[in-house]
Amino acid sequence: MKTDIDVVVCEVGLRDGLQSIAQFFPTAEKIAWIQAEAAAGVPAIEVTSFVPATLIPQFADAQEVVMAARAVAGLRVDALVPNLKGAERAMALGVNSLDFVMSVSRTHNLKNVRREREESIEEFKRIVSMVRQLPPQQRPRLTPGLGTALGCSYEGAIAVDEVVKCAVALAEAGADEIMICDTVGYADPVLVKKVFTAVRSAVGSLPLGAHFHDTRGLGLANVTAALDCGVRRFDASLAGLGGCQFAPGATGNIVMDDLCFLLDAMGLRTGVDLDKLVSVRPMIARNLPDVPLYGGLARSGLPRNYVPAAQRAALTNLIF
Ligand code: COA
Ligand code: ZN
Repeated sequence: MKTDIDVVVCEVGLRDGLQSIAQFFPTAEKIAWIQAEAAAGVPAIEVTSFVPATLIPQFADAQEVVMAARAVAGLRVDALVPNLKGAERAMALGVNSLDFVMSVSRTHNLKNVRREREESIEEFKRIVSMVRQLPPQQRPRLTPGLGTALGCSYEGAIAVDEVVKCAVALAEAGADEIMICDTVGYADPVLVKKVFTAVRSAVGSLPLGAHFHDTRGLGLANVTAALDCGVRRFDASLAGLGGCQFAPGATGNIVMDDLCFLLDAMGLRTGVDLDKLVSVRPMIARNLPDVPLYGGLARSGLPRNYVPAAQRAALTNLIF
């Protein structure tokens, strides 16, 4: 991972974006997308999901995709794992980050992974034990995500205490980082501050990341609220693909290109070349001609004479 960046962005379009799209995105094209986005400077990509291929055929090529992604120098290769079996498959291929998933909403957890929340926590503990059998330098990062942490389309509002309880359980079980996920786009900046502040004070210095969907147009506003809470890792998907077939009303993630522009404009270095990033979008368009692509930066371009954050930082160092 690069050290000259302030915020880590993680592309999740290949997983969150593609999981609800029935049309198979050709394996070679997934690999080309990963390579191009990594070349644009995106440091981490959740490249696939280790779920049963009978459940989501889009990820039947998980092995091939991971192998190709692992060959990309410097890229952190993440994968979603819903259970121990998924984690075993991912670890056998040398995935760098295991993105275990469970939901704070009991109903969504039952629909999504067919488990009670307590069973999911026990499953995570089994994954931690398996990971700890490896020598420390070979262990993947354990980066569980708490779905529906800011609202659920089955249950409505989710109590902050419930989020804290799940986060503490994951932290005590051995998480290296916890992602707090607004699976169905119910969050607003005030709620984001409430939830992240409560979780932060319960889990101490454990890193927290944010995974927002832009369902109601508040995605980037929520990012600025999370930044205020010290969050320095964000998921997003190029052109705003995304959704979850097990969560009614779920739509696309926040737009990666707009997220990177927001962060850069605020002086936070992401390591991403904005022009190069936008130029990856046609790869999605040519494979998914009927899927809408979102994004203000792609539509309108950079402001005239825009100076990227890294160059502004270099100039400041020179002057002072
Ligand atoms: N990868 C491949 N195969 C798997 C697997 C995995 N991660 N997990 C289970 N299986 C196989 C089992 O070996 C078993 O196969 P068999 O019938 O040939 O013996 C079969 O699938 C059923 O296993 P079981 O443990 O009973 O799973 P389940 O039916 O209770 O389903 C999950 C549980 C977690 C596997 C499933 O609900 C799931 O993948 N959910 C994730 C949904 C998702 O991706 N949502 C979007 C992301 S938020
Ligand atoms: Zn999501």
